[in-house]
Amino acid sequence: MAASDSDAGGEPGADGVESGADGTNSGGTADGTDRGNAVALRDVRKTYHLGEPVHALDDVSLSIPRGSYTAVMGPSGSGKSTLLNLIGCLDTPTEGEVWVNDREVSALSQRARTRVRGQEVGFVFQTFNLMLKLTAAENVALPLVFEGVGKAERADRAAELLEQVGLGDRADHRPNELSGGQRQRVAVARALANDPAILLADEPTGNLDQETGEQIMGLFQRLHDEGNTVLMVTHERPIAEHAGRVVHVLDGTIERIEEIASPRRVESERR
Ligand SMILES: Nc1ncnc2c1ncn2[C@@H]1O[C@H](COP(=O)(O)OP(=O)(O)OP(=O)(O)O)[C@@H](O)[C@H]1O
Ligand SMILES: [Mg+2]
Repeated sequence: MAASDSDAGGEPGADGVESGADGTNSGGTADGTDRGNAVALRDVRKTYHLGEPVHALDDVSLSIPRGSYTAVMGPSGSGKSTLLNLIGCLDTPTEGEVWVNDREVSALSQRARTRVRGQEVGFVFQTFNLMLKLTAAENVALPLVFEGVGKAERADRAAELLEQVGLGDRADHRPNELSGGQRQRVAVARALANDPAILLADEPTGNLDQETGEQIMGLFQRLHDEGNTVLMVTHERPIAEHAGRVVHVLDGTIERIEEIASPRRVESERR
């Protein structure tokens, strides 16, 4: 699915269109956006109470334009995962509003939020969260089970995605039979399974060598070129430079937002 049904069609000069599959520079992404936001946070606080209250996010407002590619950077403990979890409908704010594709998810029931997550969001967790009893292929296919996709189609899609992350020959392995980087690639493949309009990734290349990391960046680039929204947390500057914008987080607040004039492109998607 593209960014949204309503603006995938006849909008003049939509920036995702000209980039296509030819690998040309997609140029400006975040400009000219009256197309609405994929994500918006309004005065969001997240406070944890474990003895002393911890303000993981402290009055954060942020807009992520539809079809944009954003990196989030900041020191350990600054609130990056908390931010992603709120956007990914895994958690709710203590105060403020979280909007995803023009719906206030912070006001929805848990059930409704789960539905938004299943249909519109792909999530790569910092800790992978793979199901240990399932094979790599079954893990990748899991989001499609919830979407009611048939078994044969699920198997085809899982095989294709595992191939794309370089794990075509590991489909029948369980997570404990895979290396850390391989598990991470299974987590990326799973996040892409439902062709998400919004991809959220928490340190998607944290355990990967440079070449495998580039391969993952190639997949994200393609998703972005197709008009979807990508938001990833990373500690690595060269990885962040694939995005058009870097949101710098510090002590639960947004310190600054940096525009990347010419984002890095992955030359070839395949190894
Ligand atoms: N469930 C929780 N209960 C209490 N405190 C929490 C909880 N989750 C996170 N925190 C605290 O909130 C702050 C932000 O945590 P968060 O996981 O968002 O950081 P981060 O920026 O993702 O760090 P890292 O780079 O190490 O992954 C930290 O101080 C953390 O200790
Ligand atoms: Mg984190």
